[in-house]
Amino acid sequence: MLQTIGTLPVARKIAELRRTVAEWRRSSEIVALVPTMGALHQGHLALIAHARARADRVIASIFVNPTQFGPNEDFTRYPRDEAGDAAKLAAASCDLLYAPDAAEMYPAGFATTVSAGPLAAPLCGRFRPGHFDGVATVVTKLFLQAHPHIACFGEKDYQQLQIIRRVARDLDIDCAIEGVAIVREADGLAMSSRNAYLAPNERRIAPALHRVLSDAVADVAHGVAPPEAAAAGNAALLKAGFDKVDYVELVDAESLQPLADRTRPGRALAAAWLGKTRLIDNVPVPPREAR
Ligand code: PAJ
Repeated sequence: MLQTIGTLPVARKIAELRRTVAEWRRSSEIVALVPTMGALHQGHLALIAHARARADRVIASIFVNPTQFGPNEDFTRYPRDEAGDAAKLAAASCDLLYAPDAAEMYPAGFATTVSAGPLAAPLCGRFRPGHFDGVATVVTKLFLQAHPHIACFGEKDYQQLQIIRRVARDLDIDCAIEGVAIVREADGLAMSSRNAYLAPNERRIAPALHRVLSDAVADVAHGVAPPEAAAAGNAALLKAGFDKVDYVELVDAESLQPLADRTRPGRALAAAWLGKTRLIDNVPVPPREAR
């Protein structure tokens, strides 16, 4: 018998998770996995709803993965609220919470990792060395542990989504990867567990990130060259009050290389700092009609 938090069954061990999923699969049920690091908000719950609509059984995982945080990043202060998360998951008709501890995920002697490859080199990869290898490794482990038919990821972390698609293809992981659109606050700010760090004055500046990206896309639609639109976006973020801009870039939506062929879908992405908080966001760049 699984433990429960409130009404939500929870597995803490790989063996419990496997036993539960094996039973579901024996009954020909479709199983979906939604990996998260907890501190759940409406963005995460949109992934649960997407999974709920496509699968008979929905598993959410919560694991704040130490290997995807750099030495000076926010691992220790990352928000944690398992009881609150469990209540939200139960209300969203999630079937199972998988919440392993670090020793279950990375037992003594752990040594093998997944290298995220060239998609991890640009954009956030330039500023967070090793981050995407940590993500690729833990997500691969979650796939092998939970053996889902479907796994859902948000476009909020667009580079992460593209890397996970690549990993699943390259390692023959038999799981359909579903991308889900970004859920935003009314003022355009993309929902994020890290928004909780923002002081009131920073929170007022934060929506500029989405506005500036949307402006860059409009500029390009009006004929501005992508690198110029990106440079203007960078300046606009500083003017709006961001303390530091890691990047504003317009790239090919699949290869993540600088946007050159305008008949292909593109993506405008940015990462910028308000005080000690790093925010990311992205918007689609629609392809131009081929002439
Ligand atoms: P976390 O930041 O908790 O995000 C979990 C999932 O929720 C990711 O797929 C993310 O893209 C999605 N998400 C977050 N905010 C969203 C929003 N506003 N709209 C739509 N989707 C949103 O991403 C991670 O955790 C980790 O890297 C993980 C994949 C769990 C591996 O450790």
